[in-house]
Amino acid sequence: MLAELIDRQSLLFNRTTPVTSNFVVDSDDISVRRFALDGFDLVDGLPDIFAALAYLERYLGLYLRQYASVHDPFASEIRLAKVDRIPVCSPAISESFQALHFDMGLPLDPDLAAGSSLFNFAALYVPYNVVNPHASTRLLPLRRLSLSPDRALASKLDVYVKEYGDGWAKPSYVNTGRLGSLARVLDSLNAEPQLTDYYNKAVWEWFNEIPSEDGLIEYQREAEFFRQFEIDIETLEDRVQLVPGQLLIIDNISCVHGRVGRRQFEEVYQVLYGSPSVSQTQIIHIKDHLVASMESSRQKNESKQRYGFAV
Ligand SMILES: [Fe+2]
Repeated sequence: MLAELIDRQSLLFNRTTPVTSNFVVDSDDISVRRFALDGFDLVDGLPDIFAALAYLERYLGLYLRQYASVHDPFASEIRLAKVDRIPVCSPAISESFQALHFDMGLPLDPDLAAGSSLFNFAALYVPYNVVNPHASTRLLPLRRLSLSPDRALASKLDVYVKEYGDGWAKPSYVNTGRLGSLARVLDSLNAEPQLTDYYNKAVWEWFNEIPSEDGLIEYQREAEFFRQFEIDIETLEDRVQLVPGQLLIIDNISCVHGRVGRRQFEEVYQVLYGSPSVSQTQIIHIKDHLVASMESSRQKNESKQRYGFAV
């Protein structure tokens, strides 16, 4: 059954069943506490993608049952939505940088995005036959930000998404009412937005006007963009250099991720769990959570220092 779901390069919503309905009580070996705090977690020693997927089902089932979270309104719907070995196409293989983003973007405009899918959780798994992976995944839990509520992010974000949401230009302009880039969420605060032309760019094209071999120039340009909002991503983000057998689990609403360094052909499995269709009320719930997380003033580096992931 699982083998039929892998590498279809298409969404699986019609082929899978909700995590909570698959839940088995036998999950005493799993702790989701770190995930509940930070929005990401790292698991070692999974022998293959089948073991990784079985673990993810149990892990997310346990998390959705044990912790109140932004995912609660979707809990009865969240299911495996995508399992693909990546990268497979040439631009994605040659690029060495990804800006901080939500996989597939977050639906943020209740009028434009109602009825579209939400991807609640993302995961990356490196198989044992991959030799010497060296890319670093960047992780930034949004609760580490502490934007002042005086900036009025909520209302400015509404205007920005309606005007400049992600989409495409051809054959005719479409605004999906989603945003994929954290930088674009913050760009809504600018009196004169700077990233409006990113609406149809791939994740590796952001900040890459001067492409570099190791992705560091792009990273510095992104860091510079964030500094105008008094956000220092160089001290706030974690980095994880995944090794074979490791599974990285990410809360795709509460934690953005990116990358520096190049991936080999089909180096990782990308796994997404999501909800097939969200309502206008649910989209407002997502947006409210996003804004509240970014305006949180909880202690910034608490988690990073406690877990000490390898850089
Ligand atoms: Fe991603």
